[in-house]
Amino acid sequence: MKIDFQHVFGIDSAHGMSREAFASSAEKLPDFLSQIQDRGQDFAAILDDEEIIHDIEQFAQQKKEQYDDIVVLGIGGSALGTIVLRDSLNKKFVQEKPRLHILENIDPDLIAESTQFLNLEKTLFLVVSKSGETPEILAQFFYFQDQVIQANLKISDHFVFITDPEKGFLRKRSIEKNIPSFPVPPRVGGRFSVLTSVGLLPAALIGINIRSLIEGAKETRKQFLSKNFKKNLSFQLATVQFHLAQKGKTQNVLMPYATKLRTFSAWFAQLLAESTGKINTDGKNVGLTPLASLGVTDQHSQLQLYAQGPADKLILFLSVEKFSMDPMIPVPEENEDGQFLNGVSFGKLLHTEQQATAKSLAELDRPSLNISIPEISEETLGQLFFLFEGSTAFLGEFLEIDAFDQPGVERSKQLTRESLSA
Ligand code: PA5
Repeated sequence: MKIDFQHVFGIDSAHGMSREAFASSAEKLPDFLSQIQDRGQDFAAILDDEEIIHDIEQFAQQKKEQYDDIVVLGIGGSALGTIVLRDSLNKKFVQEKPRLHILENIDPDLIAESTQFLNLEKTLFLVVSKSGETPEILAQFFYFQDQVIQANLKISDHFVFITDPEKGFLRKRSIEKNIPSFPVPPRVGGRFSVLTSVGLLPAALIGINIRSLIEGAKETRKQFLSKNFKKNLSFQLATVQFHLAQKGKTQNVLMPYATKLRTFSAWFAQLLAESTGKINTDGKNVGLTPLASLGVTDQHSQLQLYAQGPADKLILFLSVEKFSMDPMIPVPEENEDGQFLNGVSFGKLLHTEQQATAKSLAELDRPSLNISIPEISEETLGQLFFLFEGSTAFLGEFLEIDAFDQPGVERSKQLTRESLSA
């Protein structure tokens, strides 16, 4: 994985960042690393939990043949990473069995339609909630539990809980009813939990190699823990995000040039929004606003805004060097206008368009950077997840906030409870 900052350094310094300013932020790195450590989070340490990886692999091996459909009942950090894993490492048009569905909403149509579609005898529900108390997930659980009971099926054959090892309703219920369960480490926040049983169990059940995922993440973790600025890609990324935000570029557009990575932007959006939108130690409202985009598709939808709209954006391109297949574009000889496409593959066209887009933005002093991975694989996804988790942790220190809490979402939950209990 590489990050190319040429269109951050190469544009007018009012909109970009000089190489000198970039390099001078290196002095903050050691302090920031120890501040992050002091926050007592385990998102980096969990990669060493061999026992859980082994348990997940064993469970998946035993169970995956038994079910046609795996349904995740989860929301926010308990769903978004799993969606990325499914979408990026599977074929787009064919979903082999077991199929993986993620019900990340309580939209009545979604719930009702899923019941019509699922054969409950061949369905396993993974109830994923770190707190084990999230109302939306409890509602979904009660609904599908009722369906399973009505179908005369055994709850413990059709439900698995992924939740806090000790606390919460789901943990209590798993003990009372002997429902299989996996732990979510207490010191890992929801949006940092994709590489715990939250993402690993559903991934393993659909045949994803979770060891390679973890290995990839470990490679980026090594960089993240390094005090050497040149090696620490997460810190470099956060440096640019923060310094450009200081210059008014508070919106970060994540624009992968690969359809399979489309949902990675939604995962990134939650991570950036929920982690950075805070009141800082000086009492100031701070935060970076994420925007999800897709190359080349959104060149025909959003690019106009990025080029000529408010100069408040940093574009984070995400590109894949080599696709698993790369068909050529066979232009018929009589089509004179299309000859520039002759002998060009779709991959080449896509890359050329990404570079042209970055260049066209740079000409207008619109900064961008390009994160490139050699291919889409378990290993590179692990790297990407950890790159952004690490940069978000560093952003928290730059912004002088706790990147790991989310106090701003509690009030809405409280008002919902009050309103329904009235
Ligand atoms: O990142 C977070 O902590 C949140 O988005 C949670 O993931 C989300 O609220 C769901 O919480 P839980 O897993 O406790 O059901």
